[in-house]
Amino acid sequence: MPKHFLSIADFSKDEILQIFDLTKELKQKQKSGKSHKHLEGKTLAMIFQKPSARTRVSFEVGMFQLGGHALYLGPNDIQIGQREAIGDVAQTLSQYVDIIMARLFGHEDIVELANHASVPVLNGLTDLLHPCQVMADVFTIFEKQGKSDKFKVAFIGDGNNVANSWINMAARIPMILQLGIPDGYDPDQDILHAARKQNLSEIQVFRDPVEAVKDADVIYTDVWASMGQESEAEKRKRAFKDYRVDTALVGHAKPDCLVMHCLPAHRGEEIASQVIDGPQSIVFEEAENRLHVQKAIMVKVFECSEKYHLESFSKNPN
Ligand code: CP
Ligand code: NVA
Repeated sequence: MPKHFLSIADFSKDEILQIFDLTKELKQKQKSGKSHKHLEGKTLAMIFQKPSARTRVSFEVGMFQLGGHALYLGPNDIQIGQREAIGDVAQTLSQYVDIIMARLFGHEDIVELANHASVPVLNGLTDLLHPCQVMADVFTIFEKQGKSDKFKVAFIGDGNNVANSWINMAARIPMILQLGIPDGYDPDQDILHAARKQNLSEIQVFRDPVEAVKDADVIYTDVWASMGQESEAEKRKRAFKDYRVDTALVGHAKPDCLVMHCLPAHRGEEIASQVIDGPQSIVFEEAENRLHVQKAIMVKVFECSEKYHLESFSKNPN
């Protein structure tokens, strides 16, 4: 099987730490203008069913910096699952490109894509998970605060794809994860149970956001209505009104607490402009690190899958 990255659960703790080491190296090389063309002549297909700024640009730029080429396939191009079966798209693209990245609605669709692809498939966000985001988030925290076993993250808002990936991360990297989430918007219960079973991190769900941020090293938030939930926006604004990350809420965390948001942000809703523009906010460093971490992920999955391809080619050279 090629090495896919559909979920943080697809990487071991060692693999995550190796990717962070490689990220640091690639970031330094990029900043100092040193060549790092690990994927020279390789091609990345980027399938998007949903809009994107960071994911699209950082993957495309990242592939270019690694010496490869990326092609954007928007919602009207291949129309995955509508114009033809997902498995046929996977097998066709596998003949042309070396890596596929996809941002899809249904998580089951990216699983199907991966099941039929003979090249690595990377998850650029589904309704269930956003693993590349949380890889960049944790890399950014380690960069800022050093690696520590007991860093406390308060995730405030919706138990959405980003929250689920944070919980998956807590099953790999030790932390205290405190989710401040209103009743009815909890994260995926299977993911939560699986992470708790690992006994690595303390993971707690609070209904009171103040309790959730108490003594936090990092406060994290995301939009109240994710892509695809636009029709619920008004209802969600009411449900989440007490879960806004504003200066009062930040005041309950550690004094030097960092504030993070995966972006795009809805200023004045889940986060106050004063906070996102304030001295504790690291949202744009977080966004920058999407580029560096994803470059390392692409190098890692490509290297793992090259072995698989060489073996398949020697069995069937045509
Ligand atoms: N954080 C993130 O994935 O941003 P985009 O939706 O703009 O890609
Ligand atoms: N939860 C958000 C994340 C955007 C990057 C969404 O899915 O729209």
